[in-house]
Amino acid sequence: MNVIDVHTHVFPRLSRAEGRLLTDAGEPWLREHGDGTGMMMSGDAEYRPVEAGLWDPAARLAAMDTAGVDVQAVSSTPLMFGYEADPGRAGEWCELVNERILDYCAQAPDRLLPLCQVPLQDAATAAAMVTRAASQGHRGVHIGNHVGPRYLDAPEILEFLRHCAEQGMPVLVHPWDLLGSDRMAGRYMLPWLVAMAAETQLTILSLALSGGFDKLPHQLKICFCHGGGSFAYLLGRADNAWHNRDIVRKDSAAPPSAYTGRFHVDSAVFDPAALRLLVHVMGADRVMLGTDYPFPLGEREPGGLIRTCPGLTDAERQLMLGGNAQEFFKTGTS
Ligand code: CO
Repeated sequence: MNVIDVHTHVFPRLSRAEGRLLTDAGEPWLREHGDGTGMMMSGDAEYRPVEAGLWDPAARLAAMDTAGVDVQAVSSTPLMFGYEADPGRAGEWCELVNERILDYCAQAPDRLLPLCQVPLQDAATAAAMVTRAASQGHRGVHIGNHVGPRYLDAPEILEFLRHCAEQGMPVLVHPWDLLGSDRMAGRYMLPWLVAMAAETQLTILSLALSGGFDKLPHQLKICFCHGGGSFAYLLGRADNAWHNRDIVRKDSAAPPSAYTGRFHVDSAVFDPAALRLLVHVMGADRVMLGTDYPFPLGEREPGGLIRTCPGLTDAERQLMLGGNAQEFFKTGTS
């Protein structure tokens, strides 16, 4: 059984001039320091200090060997999405990013699964890009959990997700552009600790309560990062609201808990009791190892929580460490 990490990030080498493809002001680019460290940049602003595994496949593969991770799904970082840019420029930018991700993963094609990104602000273009990316070797598509005020239940984004299902392209949903960040700015990374979890819960509940899941085909493979955020812990509250308020239940066929069989989540919850709750809510066949490599808020010992969490069977651990992801991404290896 291979150990497969479904939630990892890459920021391929992209110069400032290339970043300018996206926007003149906030271009994302990578500043390397030559000593294995670097800085993710947004225009002139330093966004986040980073280490070589983010852009150097050899450093990543060495880290995977040390950690006992056989395969990673490799996604861009949300800073690179470009959803706020002009759709035409964002399309060109995504083509460049996707090409770089393919090049990066080509260093170890049996171990690095490339996931493309798309200009989701233009859902039709995004769908066409998914088809093209699949033909070029991408194994899935990585999207943000919203585009401005539109969440994944917007009609055109549902159409995009239907297209992904028809194409057999798995979808990894990552929170970004975090709500309330202005009120938490500069305070202890609170947007990452609070709003990231809320964003993901908001997206899952939007799909459930809007009837989005009712409209989507069952073959859609869609996974939410960070254990689905606060969804599992607050599912009882959402169900209670569905049963007791007609304005909550008016658009969906069933309460939110009825849709847990329609999506996957990763295992990045960092606490045994939280993982047990997640397995109780989702089922062990819906939870996949996800570490957020190589960022410091990720699981530093990949798979450690799944391996040591009390109360799980060996079969459940195997599913979460790789069996589910093998099915999700059809890796075809054992
Ligand atoms: Co992440």
